[in-house]
Amino acid sequence: MKEHARQARAENRIVGFVPTMGALHAGHLALVERAKRECSPVIASIFLNPKQFGANEDLSKYPRTFGADSEKFSAAGVDALFAPQTAEMYPSDFRTYVNVDGLSDRLEGRSRPGHFRGVSTVVLKLLEIVQPNFAYFGRKDAQQVRLISQMVRDLNLDTEIVVCPIVREPDGLALSSRNVYLSTDERKTATVLHRALAGARDEIHSGTRDALQLQSVIRKVLSAEPLAVLDYAEVVDAESFEPVTRISRPCYILLAAFFGKTRLIDNLYIEPTATGSDELHAQL
Ligand code: PAJ
Repeated sequence: MKEHARQARAENRIVGFVPTMGALHAGHLALVERAKRECSPVIASIFLNPKQFGANEDLSKYPRTFGADSEKFSAAGVDALFAPQTAEMYPSDFRTYVNVDGLSDRLEGRSRPGHFRGVSTVVLKLLEIVQPNFAYFGRKDAQQVRLISQMVRDLNLDTEIVVCPIVREPDGLALSSRNVYLSTDERKTATVLHRALAGARDEIHSGTRDALQLQSVIRKVLSAEPLAVLDYAEVVDAESFEPVTRISRPCYILLAAFFGKTRLIDNLYIEPTATGSDELHAQL
């Protein structure tokens, strides 16, 4: 892979990179589509990274669909697929980890200790191997892409991180490789994440700026669904991921909830319609 990428760069081509853990869906393929518009070649990776899963998490049952995935990537126009074995990425004497202080221990990081250390370590390795000009990530994992952007800046990597919008099912559920775990009833209930965020969005568009008020709208929608167990609903600054009490600058409302054993996340991105404007636009 390194040799392949080195050659593309020597030819002054613009290398685009889409890292994934496989079990591909239209959210992943939207990243490829965007990369195809901006780069050639487009390189994708499939690596189910054990280091970002906790001991009691779903690594062993995570869907593995390599054959279908590689067909989907090639139909989408991916020029090269990097799919290393675990032992190649992490030989038995592997010892080096990267950690993004502060950003990695709250919200997702608090609910999933060690998760972001695994994410930043593997993404740094992948970026070092592929050395892309642009790397594409989904806003679905808002804290992940914020953390990766910080790492890229702090470690002076020559890659620009591109954030792409959330791709959803027609009923609003954000696409996720984990949606296949949901029972029929849980799948119906899971739209509550989108419904709660849509409620918050409508509140914001009608003038609400108070974070507590928005959280109470969200909690109310969620409490009407006994199959959904809220993990967190937080309004945070889009840069620092610190909680805010009033929305006046780019923010996220971040949601995580359990549906049975399945944990899903979703978010709403809020930004002023123009710099200095009091008017806000909230994007699901
Ligand atoms: P994975 O969950 O496979 O996701 C790969 C990429 O697809 C991530 O950037 C994620 O944000 C994006 N994505 C997932 N669902 C999406 C949706 N509904 N809409 C838009 N984008 C979506 O995230 C990971 O893998 C891993 O942590 C990884 C970065 C590959 C490191 O192991």
